[in-house]
Amino acid sequence: MEKVIGYITENYDRYLSELQDFLRIPSISTLPENNVYMSQCAKFIAEKLRAANMSKVEVFQTEGHPIVYGEWLGAPGKPTILIYGHYDVQPVDPVELWDNHPFEPVIYDDKIWARGATDDKGQLFVHIKSVEAFFKSNGCPPLNIKFIIEGEEEIGSENLTKFLNLNRNMLKCDAVLLSDTSLFDKGIPTITYGLRGLCYMEVEVTGPNRDLHSGSFGGAVANPINILAQMISKLHDNNGMVAIPDFYKDVLPLTDKEINSFKKLKFSEKLYAKNLGVAELGGEKGFTALERIWTRPTLDCNSISGGFKGAGAKTIIPSKASAKISMRLVPNQAPKKTAKLFTKYFQSIAPKSVKVTVKELHGGHPVIMPLDHKATIVAANAMQKAFGKKTVFMREGGSIPIIVDFVKKLKAPAVLMGLGLDSENLHSPNEHFDLNHFKLGILSSAYFIQEFSGK
Ligand code: BES
Ligand code: MN
Ligand code: MN
Repeated sequence: MEKVIGYITENYDRYLSELQDFLRIPSISTLPENNVYMSQCAKFIAEKLRAANMSKVEVFQTEGHPIVYGEWLGAPGKPTILIYGHYDVQPVDPVELWDNHPFEPVIYDDKIWARGATDDKGQLFVHIKSVEAFFKSNGCPPLNIKFIIEGEEEIGSENLTKFLNLNRNMLKCDAVLLSDTSLFDKGIPTITYGLRGLCYMEVEVTGPNRDLHSGSFGGAVANPINILAQMISKLHDNNGMVAIPDFYKDVLPLTDKEINSFKKLKFSEKLYAKNLGVAELGGEKGFTALERIWTRPTLDCNSISGGFKGAGAKTIIPSKASAKISMRLVPNQAPKKTAKLFTKYFQSIAPKSVKVTVKELHGGHPVIMPLDHKATIVAANAMQKAFGKKTVFMREGGSIPIIVDFVKKLKAPAVLMGLGLDSENLHSPNEHFDLNHFKLGILSSAYFIQEFSGK
C-alpha cells in the first residue's frame, strides 16, 4: 500500500490537471445541441480507463448517450467490484450567476470550481485514479475491477437500465462502489445507506380556447392560473403533510434505532437555515430536518408557468397554465403507484370550468441498504483510515435511481462512498468540489480495494 499511496502523492498534480480537462467538456445530457460533447466525454473516460490499465475498454452507443465500460479481471478467485459513475452534468443556467465560466475550471480556496466538479466528474475520477495507482506503482490491484460510467444519470438512466438488463453477466460483481453522494460534513467520512426515490409529474390546466381580454371576460370565465394555484395549495394540509389519499400508505416508519443514530449526528437546524438565507425552516410537522430530508416523502413544485411573461402589463386571462411537480419517495413507496394516486387526486380537485391533463415524466425507486454487509463495513473502515476519523452512516434526500437496478439485478450490495458536500452547489451556479475530499477519496478508494480483496 505504501507504494500505491506514494504514487498518488507524487502524481496528484497531474491528477488534478486531468480532472480539469474532464471538467472542460460541457457534457450536459439534457441539451441535444451538446451531443457531440457527450461522445467526446465518453471517449475521454475510455482513454483514462486505458491509462489505468483496464484491459477491455469499450464505448457502447445507445439510443441516448454512450456508456463507457472497462474491466480488468486479472485476479482470478478474488472478488470483483463494479465502480459506477456518471459523466453527464446539469445545465448551467442561470449562467450569469456564476463567478467563473462553468466549463473553464479554476482552483482556489482548496476547491475546484466548474459544472460537474462534485456531481459527478470529480467524485468518479477518484476511483479511476486509485486504480491507476495500483498498476503504475509497480503492481496490480488485489481484486477484479469493472467500471460502468453512464451519461444519462441526470435524465433518468433509461439506457443504462436497458443495458443492465441485457448485460447482467458482463456486469456481474460482488459489490457496486460509487461516489455520487455527500459527506455528512466537511472532513467526516460518511457512508450513505438510503436514497429517496422520485416521481416527477407535469400538469396542465386549460381554460378558454384562447387568451382573453381580462376586462371583457374577467369575472365570467375561470382563470387557469388562479385555478392551478388553488389546486396546488390543496396538495398539502396545514401540517405540511401531502394531502393525496393513501400517499403515506407504503411508507416504512422510522425505527427507534435510526432516530437515535440520527440524533447523535451534530446538526444545527438554525445554522442550516442561516446558510440558506431563510429565517425559519419549513416542512412536515413532527420530524427533525434530517428526518424530513432522509426518511419522509415530499411533494414540491419545480416550476409553474402560464400567461404573459413579457415586460410591462398585458391584461389577459390566459388560456393555459402548467406546473412541474416532483415527489421524493421513501421505502416502500413505488413511483408508478404514486403517479396513479397523484393523478387521481389531482383530477378529483379540478373544477368543471377547466380541463386538466396529468403526465408522468420519470421516476425512480427509493432504496435502503443493510448496514452489516461486508462491502459496507470495509468501505466504512477504508474511509476511516483515509480521513483519520470515525465513519458516520446517513441516508440521503436525493436520488440515484439506477442503484436499485444494480442491487436487484446484479444481486450485489451497493456502497455509497460519497465525497461531496450538499453545500457544493450541485445543480446550482458555482458548483465546486473540495480538493481535500478529492485526495482523501482517492486514498479511501485505494484502501477499499486493498481491504475488500481479503477475508
Ligand atoms: N448525485 C445526485 C444525487 C444526490 C443529490 C446525491 C443530492 C447527494 C445529494 C444525482 O446526480 C442527482 O442529481 N439525481 C437526481 C435524480 C433524478 C434526475 C432522476 C436527483 O436527485 O434529482
Ligand atoms: Mn450525481
Ligand atoms: Mn445530479
